[in-house]
Amino acid sequence: EDTDKGAYPYYMLKEVDEQAIVARNIASHYYDEDGNLQGIGCAITDKMKEADRLYIVAAGTSYHAGLVGKRYFEQWAKIPTAVHISSEFAYDQPMLSEKPFFIFLSQSGETADSREVLDNVKKQGFPALTLANVMNSTLTREADFALPLLAGPEIAVASTKAYTAQVIVQAILASALGNPGFDLKAELAKVAVEIQAITDDKEKFKAIAEDALADQHSAFYIGRGLDACVALEAALKLKEISYIQTEGFAAGELKHGTISLIEDGTPVFALLTQKKTEGLLRGEVAQVAARGANTIVFASKSVAKEGDAFVLPEVNELLMPLLAVIPTQLIAYYATLARGLDVDRPRNLAKSVTVQ
Ligand code: G6P
Repeated sequence: EDTDKGAYPYYMLKEVDEQAIVARNIASHYYDEDGNLQGIGCAITDKMKEADRLYIVAAGTSYHAGLVGKRYFEQWAKIPTAVHISSEFAYDQPMLSEKPFFIFLSQSGETADSREVLDNVKKQGFPALTLANVMNSTLTREADFALPLLAGPEIAVASTKAYTAQVIVQAILASALGNPGFDLKAELAKVAVEIQAITDDKEKFKAIAEDALADQHSAFYIGRGLDACVALEAALKLKEISYIQTEGFAAGELKHGTISLIEDGTPVFALLTQKKTEGLLRGEVAQVAARGANTIVFASKSVAKEGDAFVLPEVNELLMPLLAVIPTQLIAYYATLARGLDVDRPRNLAKSVTVQ
């Protein structure tokens, strides 16, 4: 595999750009030429269908990917799904359902917090599946089942393509358990094309990042539903490499406290891809704008309005996180560059955290 930066100044940018290819590679691994699913054995799907609840356990960016995946397992496979932070679950195990099934999400397969949970649930005799980018890692070896994320080596500390891969593989797995009601394979092909289109437009995000974030100490990402999940990931990406304190927020919660932090010029990025809550989110954007925020809206085509910073191409609404996350990765990248920092090696962080 290619672990060379090539002409790229940083691995992160290379890995952001690779996401269209990753989407295609995953599809060619998990679908045969006739469009039938392959590579997910009945042993896995049978066990999952027996479960009365799925527990997704992960850390960091992988946890955020789990928040998105939950929607696929619940809406397509019709299995109630809980998503947990591994460091919390390890020492504060919630009351479990009668027939739980565990899904560990991990880029490295080595995160100590997640390993601790896997150890615990194995001792309790529960089945577990690991979705990991590094196969033959501890989490893949020690779980009953493992499926590859196929993102290729991810070197930058800030995870990008592993997130995308986790969302896609969860979608495919959920579609093996229940019908999404549309042609997922075709829609994923569209996702790959549109990811490519967004990454081709990177100068736009460079300009936005330089303008909105070069001199800021704090920022917000807001959204509702799936957009709130992406807001968490977007905020993590921006804060971990640019050191701008950033909160990702379920937009409806702003009024219960956080809106008091908005000052003149505070950047508030709004993600708007879910039609059901479009009107509410527009209201929230107006409320923060009225308090001086610099609002930057990324909206999907059918709900976009004049003045929005970027119009996201449209795919099935449940797959919109795969597109909405891309501008936020590029914003984090360019904001960090504008501040003169090392994009690939933020202070105090490790790519894989093998201690608890
Ligand atoms: C570290 C990395 C993050 C990653 C998290 C979980 O903190 O810096 O990018 O999301 O670990 O890692 P995993 O390998 O389990 O996905």
